[in-house]
Amino acid sequence: MMKHKIAPSLLAANFLALGDAVEMINKSDADWMHLDVMDGVFVPNISFGFPVIEAVARVCKKPLDVHLMIVEPQKFISQVRDCGTYMMSVHYEACLHLHSTIQSIKKAGMKAGVVLNPHTPVEVLEDILCDLDMVLLMSVNPGFGGQAFIPQTLNKLSRLRAMIDRKQAATLIEIDGGINLQVAKDLLLHGADVLVVGSFVFGAAEPSKIIRELKNLLP
Ligand code: DX5
Ligand code: ZN
Repeated sequence: MMKHKIAPSLLAANFLALGDAVEMINKSDADWMHLDVMDGVFVPNISFGFPVIEAVARVCKKPLDVHLMIVEPQKFISQVRDCGTYMMSVHYEACLHLHSTIQSIKKAGMKAGVVLNPHTPVEVLEDILCDLDMVLLMSVNPGFGGQAFIPQTLNKLSRLRAMIDRKQAATLIEIDGGINLQVAKDLLLHGADVLVVGSFVFGAAEPSKIIRELKNLLP
């Protein structure tokens, strides 16, 4: 089995010292850098946009995992690509023509992910799963860091894992929101591949130590 990946979320970093946060991630055991883009329309909050991602990309040595919490994400595919994005994830709830958007993301040269809000069942992806590089299950309502993990996510995760295994698809499963060491362990035992961790990492006295612990949770 492939070892799981850890993607620290920059949203929880000190924005006055973003360079230090990126350096910490570069030197850590983190696999990806997770970047949360919010538009104040799809979610009730605004985070940061392309100028910040570009600046981060210039110094970040880890692949960029860009999570777009915006309406009409298909309009921004080339801009997201030009930032140096590795994985571009769009919300199912924000895409009227999801299949077309996924094809365009791949044609632009990026990996394509689809994100599901807590209330959206994994079964809606049945007919597109094999086209996806990743499915991201939100384990909190998108828009804010530091919220509590929604336990029903574990049931969704099990159903998604079974769907992917049944189809023998290579699709990764990422989970985002409210993850700490205990939650992380439960998620890995239920078949998660990538864990996004924000406040638990950046709120810690030694963030890189927490990343190492998350990375080495299972033997
Ligand atoms: C929430 C974001 C998450 C958030 C996770 O809308 O998508 O990536 O930064 O932060 P924590 O780990 O604090 O829940
Ligand atoms: Zn996110």
